Formats: sequence, C-alpha cells, structure tokens
Amino acid sequence: MPHDTTAINKQRQDLSQHESVWLFGYGSLIYKVDFPYLERQPASIEGWSRRFWQGSHDHRGTPEQPGRVLTLIKTPGERCTGMAYRVSPDVFEHLDHREKNGYLRFFTPMTFTDGTQAEGLVYIATEDNAAFLGEADEADIAKHIADSVGPSGKNTEYLLKLSDGLAELGVTDPHVEAIRRHLEPMLQDEP
Ligand code: BEZ
Repeated sequence: MPHDTTAINKQRQDLSQHESVWLFGYGSLIYKVDFPYLERQPASIEGWSRRFWQGSHDHRGTPEQPGRVLTLIKTPGERCTGMAYRVSPDVFEHLDHREKNGYLRFFTPMTFTDGTQAEGLVYIATEDNAAFLGEADEADIAKHIADSVGPSGKNTEYLLKLSDGLAELGVTDPHVEAIRRHLEPMLQDEP
C-alpha cells in the first residue's frame, strides 16, 4: 500500500448517493474538528481498541523520524468509545487528505449512547501500511512520543489533547492513560 492513501480511499466507497454519512472518530477527530458536521454524538464500536502503533510522517513526525499516532486494532470483546459525526460526503475530500498517511476508510456498525445503531465510516491504519510501527512497551511509546515533532506540532500535544478529549467524554482508555503516566515526568524536564 502506498504511503499516501488519498486515491485509494476515493475509490473504496461511492458516497455520492448519500445525503449524509456517519463518521466514527477515536483519535484526533475527537479534539481536532476542522470540518463541518450536521450533528455529533458519542458512540462506540465493538471489537476494536486504540493503539499508538501507527507511524506519523506528515503530522506528528517526519519520514526520517516518524511520530506515533493512533490506529485501531481488532480486539474481540473490547469496545472503543469515541465521537461520531454526521457529515456531508464532501467532507471526506478534506479528511482523506488529512488522514492520508496509511489510513483506509471502512464501514462499521456503531452504537450511540441511547442504544440506537447506525452504519458509518472509520479510518483505520492496517498492519500492511508502510507507516505501521506495531506494538511496543507503553513506556517506550511514551519516550518515542516525547521525542517526536512534525508539521502539525509536538507528538505530546496529540496524546494530551486526546486524553483530555476522552476525559470530557467520560472515557478512560487504559492504553492512553498508561502512556500519559509515563510521559508526564518527561514533560516536566521541558523549559
Ligand atoms: C480518528 O480520530 O478517528 C482518526 C484517527 C486517525 C486517523 C483518522 C481518523
């Protein structure tokens, strides 16, 4: 799979007949909402968990020194809670470009807090993408994040804004919080 997934995503689903589409956000889409939406609601998807296992060449790192950002990993029995946005299909032009570093769109069922369900899209960076970094100790991931910076800013900002955004949603993600605990003492060393 090429580094830039924009063209692949354009061909994956024909959204032209949809008046609106639900989009499930589990990472930066929770705290960086730089797109218009018609409504939003907390939602969850079954069988997936967040992991900082994807490399970032274009936002929180560089091709030479990739940062670490989120993807979803299949985890039977787990549930990932995030924010769902109902958007006009043309919003994906912007998002496909923003999330072009290895992420593909997949259709998924999602469940809202009132128990109702909808089908929508989610961006996932699968193991076969060129920027995938894979599993590492949470302490090592924290050190990697502390040392990484890219065109969108410090990798630490991604982790902290995500953690704060999840707290606002009432979500505690053990992987994210473990990395934050390892990261915080390193941040105190900063000027
Ligand atoms: C998200 O927040 O859902 C998201 C994370 C990484 C890439 C694309 C979307």
